[in-house]
Amino acid sequence: MGVIPYGRQTIEDDDVEAVVNVLRGDYLTTGPTVALFEQAVADYVGARHAVAFSNATAGLHGCTAAAGLGPGDLVGTSPLTFAASANCARYVGADVTLIDIDPDTLNIDPASIPGELDALVAVHFAGLPIDLSKLAYRPRVVIEDAAQALGAWTPSGPVGNCAHSDMTCFSFHPVKPVTTGEGGVVTTNDDELAARLRRFRSHGTQPKPEHGGWYYEVIEEGFNYRLTDIQAALGHSQMGKLDRFIERRQTLARQYDAALASLDIITAPAAPDGSGHGYHLYTVRVPERRRVYELLRERGVYTQVHYVPIHHHPHFADLDAPLPHCDEAYAGILTLPLFPTLTDDQQRQVVAELTDVLSIVRS
Ligand SMILES: Cc1ncc(COP(=O)(O)O)c(C=O)c1O
Repeated sequence: MGVIPYGRQTIEDDDVEAVVNVLRGDYLTTGPTVALFEQAVADYVGARHAVAFSNATAGLHGCTAAAGLGPGDLVGTSPLTFAASANCARYVGADVTLIDIDPDTLNIDPASIPGELDALVAVHFAGLPIDLSKLAYRPRVVIEDAAQALGAWTPSGPVGNCAHSDMTCFSFHPVKPVTTGEGGVVTTNDDELAARLRRFRSHGTQPKPEHGGWYYEVIEEGFNYRLTDIQAALGHSQMGKLDRFIERRQTLARQYDAALASLDIITAPAAPDGSGHGYHLYTVRVPERRRVYELLRERGVYTQVHYVPIHHHPHFADLDAPLPHCDEAYAGILTLPLFPTLTDDQQRQVVAELTDVLSIVRS
């Protein structure tokens, strides 16, 4: 058997056909297929609007800009996340504060967010959704960073329905639940936010056909953050497979839970009753993490670490503060291979190698 990565895309023949059909058509950049893809995401999560972006980082930037966040605003987020969750606040000049995680879920605890936030960027780490109905209070703006959590749900319904938030942002990077290569989608139930998000992704432009069919105005700051129809064709095709992919991820996660139970390590947190885990990542905690990572790699099992915490990066050195739960988790976390086409045999190989490596590092 060759190398086993921690994650990879699942591309099937009909996905390829869908992309080729767009390549033979009239639109390459944002056109009718982007609209179809957006509708598929909105329908899946039960949101009024879905706005596609070139990636989720751009989508999160769209969220903070559309929400009107800026200098003087304080945005809270998790330290155990990708840089984009914090950068999206900085892009608009807002301040960031990191909220320590709950060691059991690796998410922030919604019941104990600090009192002075203007906005919360709530990260659903690994696809395990935070139940935002349990927020201690509602900051002026609540953005869900659901880059990893398409297909997950809480007692309030699918992540992305924005039942307790203003906007939710998903990523369609290849290791995510479904992919567009690079891509992001923001969902919202607010008509004005949706209009701002659409302008923001396309130079802040507003068509004004009353002045002529060609006429538009740039009415505010914006960027070229558009998704292409080529990418949207892949995303639209993949959306039809999301439930199947999530089911396979959940099956593999249950199998890991059972197979790792005797190894005396902390296995991936489970979703609470009434919630569904998307299992974008299956993250365990091991002793001697660096050696375990390296020994597994020598044996062809490519694990990963999610994440180097935000406050450990030089760019965010000013956010360094005691975040003991995050730092303790970071010392041992390791993401094991998990993706829909991982076979049971490959998974057994991962477990066998991990068992052996743990016995070496413990001896
Ligand atoms: C939690 C989180 N937020 C944001 C992003 C950014 O997504 P993208 O790569 O689509 O810009 C990622 C991607 O890894 C992520 O995991």
